[in-house]
Amino acid sequence: MKILFIGDVFARPGRQALNLWLKDLISEHDIDFCIANGENAAHGKGITKQTADEIYASGVDFITLGNHAWGQKDTLSFIDDFPIVRPANMSKSLPGKGWCIVNTNKGDIGILNLQGRVFMDHVDNPFECATECLHEMRQYTNIIVVDFHAEATSEKIALALYIDGLCSCVIGTHTHVQTADERILPNGTAFISDAGMTGPIHSIIGMDIKCVMEKFVRSMPTRFEPAKGSFMLNAVVIDICDNSGVAKDIYRIFLKQS
Ligand SMILES: [Fe+2]
Ligand SMILES: [Fe+2]
Repeated sequence: MKILFIGDVFARPGRQALNLWLKDLISEHDIDFCIANGENAAHGKGITKQTADEIYASGVDFITLGNHAWGQKDTLSFIDDFPIVRPANMSKSLPGKGWCIVNTNKGDIGILNLQGRVFMDHVDNPFECATECLHEMRQYTNIIVVDFHAEATSEKIALALYIDGLCSCVIGTHTHVQTADERILPNGTAFISDAGMTGPIHSIIGMDIKCVMEKFVRSMPTRFEPAKGSFMLNAVVIDICDNSGVAKDIYRIFLKQS
């Protein structure tokens, strides 16, 4: 089972990158299932039905979210019905689901979304939540992908080691910068601190440079707008043993317009 996991799809340039490259990537790398983090799909914050539909149409099978899960009001209208998860350690009273089992012709795949707590808005303990969710999910399948949406590299590595052997991979998202630390952990879980961002290259993690510069240089409150122009696609491919769910390989993909 080969799974392609695409880092945070950011605004129109991110969606354009999927439309341009995804179908070829899926065939070139012999991908069975494609997951994308879509928390920034709609104008950089959140996801709408229209942007979710565009992402699925480009070849993505399943969408994960993060701290911007509720950035668009429209999300409430479809989150319970679409193949999409939001962090499981958010309030249980919120709509949507934190994990899901998807039936495919190569076997069932579990997808779990969690959010970190270091330098982020408050959520429940991701370590305890991961243990509880994985215990339930493993009754259905051994093939489990965890998207850990977190700021701190240390928290990401700690969570991955904590659940090493209980899932096929832990893929970090949220920082929008792809890290070069992909590896298979001792008990067979593949890991990368951050898959990166699929969106505008000439930007500050997706946003227009001038807007963000005003805030940093002059402390002037500004409305952030997504950057425009050339785009890139950041992703990882995880090769997983169909029966055991143990990861055999993980490698990075980084495409950019010249
Ligand atoms: Fe993001
Ligand atoms: Fe995020």
